[in-house]
Amino acid sequence: MKISVIGAGYVGLTTDACLSQIGHDVFCSESDIDKLSKLQSGVMPLFEPHLEKVIEDARRSGRLHFGATAEAIDWGRAIFICVGTPPLANGDADLSAIEGVARAIAKRASGYRLVVEKSTVPVQTGSQLRKHLSKHNTNGLDYDVASNPEFLREGSSVEDFLHPDRIVVGVDSARAAQLLREIYEPIITQRFTCPLHADCPKRNDPVFLVTDTGSAELIKHASNSFLAMKISFINMVANLCEVVGADVTKVAQGMGLDPRIGPAFLSPGIGFGGFCFPKDVQAFIRIAQKSGCDFSLLKEVEKINQRRIEEFVEKVRQELWVVRGKKIAVWGLAFKPNTDDVRFAPSIALVKSLMAEGADVRAYDPEAMEKAKSDLPNISYCSDPYQAAEGADAIVIVTEWDEFRQVNWKRLRSTVEHPLVIDGRNMFVPEEISRHGFRYISVGRNSVVPSQSAIADVNGQRATEANEDVQESLA
Ligand code: UDX
Repeated sequence: MKISVIGAGYVGLTTDACLSQIGHDVFCSESDIDKLSKLQSGVMPLFEPHLEKVIEDARRSGRLHFGATAEAIDWGRAIFICVGTPPLANGDADLSAIEGVARAIAKRASGYRLVVEKSTVPVQTGSQLRKHLSKHNTNGLDYDVASNPEFLREGSSVEDFLHPDRIVVGVDSARAAQLLREIYEPIITQRFTCPLHADCPKRNDPVFLVTDTGSAELIKHASNSFLAMKISFINMVANLCEVVGADVTKVAQGMGLDPRIGPAFLSPGIGFGGFCFPKDVQAFIRIAQKSGCDFSLLKEVEKINQRRIEEFVEKVRQELWVVRGKKIAVWGLAFKPNTDDVRFAPSIALVKSLMAEGADVRAYDPEAMEKAKSDLPNISYCSDPYQAAEGADAIVIVTEWDEFRQVNWKRLRSTVEHPLVIDGRNMFVPEEISRHGFRYISVGRNSVVPSQSAIADVNGQRATEANEDVQESLA
């Protein structure tokens, strides 16, 4: 089926790539000319695992095209709107891009169109879309509006699109439901050539849930807000664990064994970031406020999350006493591993706070440094974790990239000025790090000091090195 996708961001690019992958003929439009020309010349404007290859294959097979919005409106019977809905100052979602696309469709399209809102939008946006389409309808357009929220996690969005737990469609006609079922048929039956696995691990076929538009819109905000609430809950418990000397990872493990709770999203840390949770929680609170409903529970979720940065900086102060003039290696800038996205990343607020106290910050991130430069122009960007750690008074871990699990601690020990790791993502087993001669502070767990044997080893190593230096100078 010919399908149009409007917007080539993290959601739009995954949507057009995966719809092409399952056999549709997709036209994707992007209003950012620079991004569009990159895509037309086969250059990816963002990092998302596997996406580049899926897009390349689709373009080569002639099932994926990039161009302007007008062309997209003419192209497909179904038009997926995947434009950004960033937060306004008051927390409302900014729907101006959505409104602009709706107007463009109404003014240009004729015949039938299924207009699908995939961007995360407040409940009742679908009814606003309908009103707008009829208000600007110039060419006798016959249309349906549907909500089809995305449940994509950055870093695994191709996997999440092709192997979802559920596909939710909010529709106002049987025609729209039927068309969406046709579009998603290969995914519903899991019958397509998967670009990720030679033989796809057998999964339960996804549930194709048909609701009204408003319920579908609410499923998205409610799901994200619930996940954010789980994270703030375990972060709240982590603070108590630090005071009473319990281990929050054990508490989370014990809780997660209850299938009603589940182990996922109970990892304590420096807080949730990204372009979804922070803005979706804000938007949900605003929707409730405007509807006269009390969502103070979610306001607490937000407050707990916002406090994580200050609580983490306090750990740094406790360890360094004076932050001014200290060299701090920041490992990780992206809001989570396997993405280059730094939007609403905890790293941004943390680094700004450390710099405000006069720290000399040297950062390393495998993918996100380019995108971080506009938010953090005045820090040093390093080529690897060791360069960031040179002469460091502390290593601060903000994003749990796998690369950091492979570092050579012996080499690091001779690189840093002071053997201190403050880990905002509980990447390591404390005792392991102390064996390498580092003091290790983490979240919701006891801090550990370097083991005596490690100190002896390190002192021994230093003595040997000093002796070698003396021998060399005598020679
Ligand atoms: C989220 C939802 O998971 C996804 O379903 C929705 O479609 C879009 O928003 P995403 O924002 O890409 O996906 O990342 P996610 O993996 O959910 O992590 C969000 C933030 O929560 C990250 O900053 C992550 O570090 C943090 N997090 C996640 C925790 O702090 N603890 C956890 O246990 C899980």
